[in-house]
Amino acid sequence: MKRLDKFLADMNIGTRSQVKSEIRKGIVTVNNRPVTQPDYKISEEDVIAYKGNILQNQTYFYYMLNKPAGVITATRDQNEKTVLSLFQNTATKNLFPVGRLDKDTEGLLIITNDGPLGHKLLSPKYHIAKTYYVKIRDRLSDEDCNRLENGIDIGEKNLTRPAKIKRIDEFTLYMTITEGKYHQIKRMFEKVSNQVVYLKRVSMGNLSLDESLKPGEYRPLTAQEISCLKNFT
Ligand code: URA
Repeated sequence: MKRLDKFLADMNIGTRSQVKSEIRKGIVTVNNRPVTQPDYKISEEDVIAYKGNILQNQTYFYYMLNKPAGVITATRDQNEKTVLSLFQNTATKNLFPVGRLDKDTEGLLIITNDGPLGHKLLSPKYHIAKTYYVKIRDRLSDEDCNRLENGIDIGEKNLTRPAKIKRIDEFTLYMTITEGKYHQIKRMFEKVSNQVVYLKRVSMGNLSLDESLKPGEYRPLTAQEISCLKNFT
């Protein structure tokens, strides 16, 4: 059981005193009935709505974000806009991004408050396949394509693990890697004297970016997608 005002504050609707005043206005409903007492006790089964929008009342949240370019993959930052600042009317407390995309990279980012799952997904032990849509500056020779696929020295202890490249046209391709070194794809292409000019993650394991999400938009994962995530590890 939890107090209604605490639940709304945790959902990022406002500060504790702001949500109390919202509740008193009668615009918060519990199971379709307006409730005006801030200390009203709610349970996991109750359906809470604020201004007609249902708020998810659950322990763990899982979202798919289509990360736009220009925001950093962090929870908070003094100077830069972060991926979490894109979440509106959503409980952001304890949410964190699973893994990191560069500031100029777009695409699939999982955001959750499920710490144990997040840590598992990031563990190098599992080698989860991540596929990127990549635009490059120069044509890629077959020889360089093989070098990138077989493993290349980007200055780490080991060569990169085997990768898969699927060409789309001369300057665009899909690349699948199973690790996530800092700036990995950009560094790999630099090593073959090329340059990544656009990068977007399109899938992680068998979870694909919902292409109906515009950059900056997010949605909760479906139950099927959540079990898909849990089966990665
Ligand atoms: N590789 C990169 O170079 N950048 C990313 O954001 C992801 C993979």
